Amino acid sequence: SQPLKIAQIAGDGIGPEVVGASLEVLRAAAHGCGLEYSVTEFPFSAAHFLETGHVLDDSDIEKLRGFDSILLGAVGGLPNDPRLAGGVIEKGILLKLRFELDQYINLRPVSLYPGIETPLKDKTAEHIDFVCVRENTEDLYCGVGGYVRKGTPQEVSSQTMVSTRFGVERCIRYAFELAKTRQRKNLTLVHKTNVLTFAGDTWHRAFKEVAEEYPEVETNYHHVDACCMYMVQRPEVYDVIVVPNMFGDIITDLGAAIAGGMGMAASGNLNPDGVAPSMFEPVHGSAPDIAGQNLANPIATIDSLGLLLRETGRIKQNAAAVKCGEQIGAAVKKVTPKFAGKNLDRSGYGTDEIGSMVADAL
Ligand code: NAD
Ligand code: IPM
Ligand code: MN
Repeated sequence: SQPLKIAQIAGDGIGPEVVGASLEVLRAAAHGCGLEYSVTEFPFSAAHFLETGHVLDDSDIEKLRGFDSILLGAVGGLPNDPRLAGGVIEKGILLKLRFELDQYINLRPVSLYPGIETPLKDKTAEHIDFVCVRENTEDLYCGVGGYVRKGTPQEVSSQTMVSTRFGVERCIRYAFELAKTRQRKNLTLVHKTNVLTFAGDTWHRAFKEVAEEYPEVETNYHHVDACCMYMVQRPEVYDVIVVPNMFGDIITDLGAAIAGGMGMAASGNLNPDGVAPSMFEPVHGSAPDIAGQNLANPIATIDSLGLLLRETGRIKQNAAAVKCGEQIGAAVKKVTPKFAGKNLDRSGYGTDEIGSMVADAL
């Protein structure tokens, strides 16, 4: 097959550090798998915007369409920088790519790895092993809403949760297909149908109707507030969760925390049909508080790269990429027991050191 073309957006803060560590792992893995690949760097980031005034435009999107997949570190500057107000970077880069490339699934596994410490008492790897399928192109992220009488004492703002039957159904269908392949074949819809009665109803009906096509999959429903409680008290109830965009954002930070920290949580923004490239990134952000100190845990990014290779390899029918992705996933699990009882986000090991340990385990 053709060499795999990866577009790299290292981004801001710890982004370049964790992406650098993941690419060291890729270099170590590729040869043994017979994987040929290229990595092309793109500068899109808060830093690039502050320097040049350029965020990301339609011609950039067109260039990115020419790649097989995108590896992203993290974008975003300091939280109170007035020059970055209004989500100029988050909306202008991250959400724009997710929407324009129609990456309608945000796949976010929550797995406690061997040796990694969880804050949950008496919970082990067998209790924390599920996948969140987060809808990635709708909901409160559409930017629908606005102000009335802005700046006056009568100011009103609204932000609308948009759910289309098409968008909801394709996400739910993906989740059922995923659940079907898993050993437990269990799928939980997470929403807030007792309050969000319109959006919730669209989700609920689509879920019930698609469920009829998957009799082998056991289904369940939890309100999102209860889901947060279960994730802490009984995470073992979950196998696959399907969830709208905003709730999915929130519960997957909680998922990261129970699986050992933000630096452990990988994700894929998938265009499952392969009509545009998918984008893989850690769940965490640019972590300005630890940037530039070689302190960031690169496991989330290394795992995201593993996911990139497996997913893109499947879509592009590139067996070497799939094999390489599987080997990287296995190498991570071989390394984590060496940190027994530690939180890798605060382990004292350097970002590059952890990267080298995974590369050596290949
Ligand atoms: P964050 O995820 O960057 O950081 C939250 C906390 O987790 C911080 O204490 C940080 O030090 C820690 N942390 C994160 N990743 C870590 C790692 N790999 N190893 C060790 N510790 C880690 O979230 P935030 O502070 O809310 O956001 C910072 C910036 O990143 C903001 O501009 C935000 O908009 C942006 N952001 C970007 C993305 C993305 O590009 N995908 C995702 C989330 C946030
Ligand atoms: C994430 C992030 C983004 C989101 C932000 C930075 C726009 O928090 O990827 O989880 O809300 O999706
Ligand atoms: Mn988030």
